[in-house]
Amino acid sequence: MQIKLENLKKTYISQNKNERSEIHAVDDVSLLIPENTIFGIIGKSGAGKSSLVRLVSLLETPDSGYVYYGDKRVDNLSKSDLILQRRKIGMIFQNFNLFSSRTAGKNIAYPLEIAGTPREKIKSRVREMLTLVGLSDRENAPVSTLSGGQKQRVAIARALATEPSILFCDEATSALDPNTTHQILELIKEIQKKMNLTVVMITHQMEVVRDACESVAVIENGRVVETGKVKEIFTKPKTQVTRNFIKNISSEPKNFEYQNKVVKWSKDSGRFVLHFADGATEKPVLSMMSKEFDVTFNILAAGLNRLQNEEVGYMEVDITGKDEEIEKVVHWLSENHVNVEKL
Ligand SMILES: Nc1ncnc2c1ncn2[C@@H]1O[C@H](COP(=O)(O)OP(=O)(O)O)[C@@H](O)[C@H]1O
Ligand SMILES: [Mg+2]
Repeated sequence: MQIKLENLKKTYISQNKNERSEIHAVDDVSLLIPENTIFGIIGKSGAGKSSLVRLVSLLETPDSGYVYYGDKRVDNLSKSDLILQRRKIGMIFQNFNLFSSRTAGKNIAYPLEIAGTPREKIKSRVREMLTLVGLSDRENAPVSTLSGGQKQRVAIARALATEPSILFCDEATSALDPNTTHQILELIKEIQKKMNLTVVMITHQMEVVRDACESVAVIENGRVVETGKVKEIFTKPKTQVTRNFIKNISSEPKNFEYQNKVVKWSKDSGRFVLHFADGATEKPVLSMMSKEFDVTFNILAAGLNRLQNEEVGYMEVDITGKDEEIEKVVHWLSENHVNVEKL
């Protein structure tokens, strides 16, 4: 199911001792989230991600603007229609939100009980869901005996038990270690394909976007500052916010299997970052550059960001020469599929 957001706004009033201020948590957001894909929404803490997802998942109503699922407007549903619509939405959170008094199986059964599903059907569906998330032997396990990763698996199974078409994940891997994060992302990717889900992945971790999402929107101060395919964003980041997110993952590899390969020759980071996009690797662009222009360059670091099906390269370099010559070089490089970012 495609999701369309038009000019969504939500303002909260925050009341301190003697000061009353307005927080524009969601500030005129318009977005098209294509169906049958994993769409990331990334932003720093406080950027407005959770506020936005509460509007999109119909937990709260916007002050103004519209939410459409497919062609249907859903931000103004009557109470009874809202209940039915919400059954077609699954949600998972950072802290799992499971019922600690229930077993794994009984947690998954819960939304089916609420929907009035017959007992026998619930039983078989719970088994099916446990198998889907790789926990078929833990049906009767109390939630307290499960690891974080297993809890999130139960939460995924519960969220999808009623066969929704949309899954919202709000920081679903933020409480998990890198290996478990990797496993949960792989599981979500697999299930997305199996069930043709539209997955909206809210995160503050660029690793999650890199490893799981096809497209992404970057938000800051309640606004979308950049949106596009993940590959585009990695090779041609347009805003400083996005560059910082990318930089942070390249400097702290957490998981040996998924780490970005960075080789540093110098402590300095250089004045330019070159991002190599499709086609750039076919030509010896750097040696052509130094032949054609009156500049010298020095490579200080180089690395790879592994996206899901490919790798995109980048290099930190110093380019020395007259200003106008450097300007020409930057232009020439971008024509040769090398995006240049000035630091
Ligand atoms: N119910 C609320 N009442 C008052 N302020 C809120 C409420 N929910 C969120 N905010 C404020 O809105 C801003 C965005 O918060 P949030 O959406 O939780 O950000 P994120 O999920 O990106 O960390 C923050 O300044 C937060 O304090
Ligand atoms: Mg949040």
